[in-house]
Amino acid sequence: MTTRKPYDAGSYRWDPAQYLRFAEQRDRPFRELVERIPVAAPTRVVDLGCGPGLLTRSLAERWPQAHITGVDRSADMIAASHATVGSDRVDFVHADLRYWEPDEPVDVVLGNAVLQWVPNHLEHIATLAGWIRPGGALAFQVPDNFSEPSHTVIRALRLAPRWRDRLGDAADRSAGVERPETYLTRLAGLGLTPDVWQTEYLHLLPGDDAVLEWVKGTALRPVLDALADDPPAAAEFLEQCGAALREQYPRTEHGTVFPFRRTFLIGARPPE
Ligand SMILES: C[S@@+](CC[C@H](N)C(=O)[O-])C[C@H]1O[C@@H](n2cnc3c(N)ncnc32)[C@H](O)[C@@H]1O
Repeated sequence: MTTRKPYDAGSYRWDPAQYLRFAEQRDRPFRELVERIPVAAPTRVVDLGCGPGLLTRSLAERWPQAHITGVDRSADMIAASHATVGSDRVDFVHADLRYWEPDEPVDVVLGNAVLQWVPNHLEHIATLAGWIRPGGALAFQVPDNFSEPSHTVIRALRLAPRWRDRLGDAADRSAGVERPETYLTRLAGLGLTPDVWQTEYLHLLPGDDAVLEWVKGTALRPVLDALADDPPAAAEFLEQCGAALREQYPRTEHGTVFPFRRTFLIGARPPE
């Protein structure tokens, strides 16, 4: 009999090295988000779902007066964060963002590529907004690619007879994010000034099986976690997934073209 873990988005074992394979492509939305945060000189900044910590550290350069706290529920990501070097104005906390709270009001709360792992995050945005001082802001970026082949291929495989009983709900993240308009209305409803936009990046990825390597760092985490005790089954799943992704994203002489749409949302609290 196969036992299944209950589905808990974001609780899966992360692999910082695999995630950082595409650091260049994953960093750009973080930087484009941070650039538009309308807070000139914050002193308290929180980075939720901070991952391997390098981007969190970069915030100390952008905001020289700020103390920055990175929060992540993955022990592997927090260990990677602690191994980074840089300003002593940055610290890292191993915690689930749904239950953690800062000990004083903050100027900026940001989260890059994390809310999609948090069920009902639209509700939680009200709690996060409550942490923000007048003149401060919330800022998040979420992927909006759940109906693209990089996800539908995983979902179709998961539901195939070979895997259905074994994987259960793992990897079904189709409802991970909201429409941009929904975020905008939510932020405005909380008394924040919204700035919401979308960008579609056209990544040109190097190497063989580039999209498979990409999703091994993110969307496939629940599957790889569910099959962690059975390496031959994990290898078989990856083989099937890789073959389907190669068809959808063929490698060209220049690399593999990987379109990726992302939603950015900022909510600024007016000064008093
Ligand atoms: C795609 S990575 C993004 C990492 C980083 N923000 C970046 O842009 O490179 C998502 C991160 O969110 C974390 N995460 C997911 N759910 C979380 C939760 N409920 N509380 C805290 N961290 C969470 C994961 O552990 C993972 O490190």
